[in-house]
Amino acid sequence: MAQSPTVPDPLTVAGSIPGVPPTLRWEGRADGALILLDQTRLPHEVSFRRCTTAEQVRQAIRELCVRGAPAIGVAAAYGLCLGTRPARDRSIDDFLRVVEGVGRHLDSARPTAVNLRWAIRRLERVAREHPSDRADSRWEAMLAEAHVMAREDAEACRRIGENGAHLVTDGAGVLTHCNAGALATVAWGTALSVLYVAKQRKRRFHVYAGESRPLLQGARLTAFELAAAGIDVTVICDAAAASLMRRGDVDLVVVGADRIAVNGDTANKIGTYLLAIAAKEHGVPFYVAAPLSTFDRDLPNGAAIPIEDRPEAEVRSAFGREVVPTGVRCLNPAFDVTPAGLIRGIVTEKGLLEPVSAENIGKIFA
Ligand code: MRU
Repeated sequence: MAQSPTVPDPLTVAGSIPGVPPTLRWEGRADGALILLDQTRLPHEVSFRRCTTAEQVRQAIRELCVRGAPAIGVAAAYGLCLGTRPARDRSIDDFLRVVEGVGRHLDSARPTAVNLRWAIRRLERVAREHPSDRADSRWEAMLAEAHVMAREDAEACRRIGENGAHLVTDGAGVLTHCNAGALATVAWGTALSVLYVAKQRKRRFHVYAGESRPLLQGARLTAFELAAAGIDVTVICDAAAASLMRRGDVDLVVVGADRIAVNGDTANKIGTYLLAIAAKEHGVPFYVAAPLSTFDRDLPNGAAIPIEDRPEAEVRSAFGREVVPTGVRCLNPAFDVTPAGLIRGIVTEKGLLEPVSAENIGKIFA
């Protein structure tokens, strides 16, 4: 597979898409800080949070200041560095105990995106297996690994775009859900990377962005970054998707993922499953785009994927006020699981996996 010569260093560029601020970046050296774009304030305000403790990073993940599976993973890796920095002068045993405790705490921030656990385990392994008998050297190795993970995420996302761009045919209507763009990753995005590369290849197409209730990441974030990239985008209510497909406006659905089981069952933002059912009914190809870090190789299928339940208040309120009668309960699951059988293919940095099967998924990890 051809590798892109244009992958930028995510730690030094302003952002992968001109006009879209960087999701996260490490500022300084060992005594530095994690700078997170505060996505709760987009699209109307561009502001950043400077995190110097693991607790600040955990809070930022919980509050969706940083969100999207790959971005959560890399932010947590830096969070683990920040949380263990004060223990650098301790014995190795003490240091490793701190690494484990801070890792567990960060891991509890959000349950569905497996990238969080994946990133923490990767850094814990560095802390445990680094040959130095000094805790400060092991900590330096953890920070270096977090930088590697940030670069790898940008590169993987760029390759996802290159491996999936051919799915966008000239004149296509493309539907996406939630935000699986540059803002959800270190750079480029997953589902939206496919669109960015298609645009670079001079393909003409139109994007429908499902608003993605309850927190409107589609309306606020996907529309923001696609518009900044000069891609023609229209926001729709999630409930409008099936009728757009019925009248022939949608030729392709491409979404991101928060966790993919061994058989290809895929968790993504609530409403994705409904889109996949509607796509099947109308003969519209439905693709998932995700890096290998989003595959959970411990889960045989999607039944055991933990689904985050978010506060009722997010559903209860709209337009700045309560819209549900007092005393009526609301349910707010943030994700759902789309069975592998509804997914035409999964675009990864290692290529397009089609058809989706445990066998094909096994091959990309071989
Ligand atoms: O609640 P969020 O905003 O973290 O949910 C994000 C999604 O569901 C994305 O589609 C997914 O993480 C893929 S991001 C490349």
